[in-house]
Amino acid sequence: MLSENYIKELLDNNQQWVKEQLELDPEVFIRAAKGQEPKVLWLGCSDSRVPPNEVTGTTQGDFFVHRNIANLVSYTDFNFLSVLKYAVEYLKVEHVIVCGHYECGGVKAAMGEGSYGILDNWLLQIRDTMHFHDDELDAMAEHERFDRLVELNVVEQISHLGNTNIVRQAWANKQSLQLHGWVYNIGTGYIKTLLSGIDSVDLLKLHCKYEKK
Ligand code: CO
Repeated sequence: MLSENYIKELLDNNQQWVKEQLELDPEVFIRAAKGQEPKVLWLGCSDSRVPPNEVTGTTQGDFFVHRNIANLVSYTDFNFLSVLKYAVEYLKVEHVIVCGHYECGGVKAAMGEGSYGILDNWLLQIRDTMHFHDDELDAMAEHERFDRLVELNVVEQISHLGNTNIVRQAWANKQSLQLHGWVYNIGTGYIKTLLSGIDSVDLLKLHCKYEKK
């Protein structure tokens, strides 16, 4: 059976991977078992084509990771808020990277009229972002609109992050904490920077404005 073979292949790969890791660094797992000191909290999409470590040339221990559909920061998502709290207050990460990606199925679904059950509720936030920017988006051709909404969605999540009491408290305490908004291009492999080094309320307000003109 195909699926059984596939799962066996994964476990075989694991055996091979351990061997390779130990050849590169005999202490790697001993060190890992002692604890983690990641510098980055990564918030990305669950999409299988955007693996955080691979696309940034990093490895185990480098990133604390949270992924969900369309890389959203929802104020009522205690899963993400717990991750953020732990990353900022206990691990003292210095960077939070929100990485969206073009061709995001979640963003595409939010733009359309289809119904996906419970997922519709999750994606409503993207619809709000779409409506905030409808002047800009309505003037665009469909695929350009899609790409732009992916970007605007990332900027919106940076705004949400910067409005959480977790990030505000860190900034008030003069803790070094920068927010970065990226978009990964699935078709080329390259990352585009939208926002970088947001480390104060003033910078947040400067870069994440939503007032309608
Ligand atoms: Co996606």
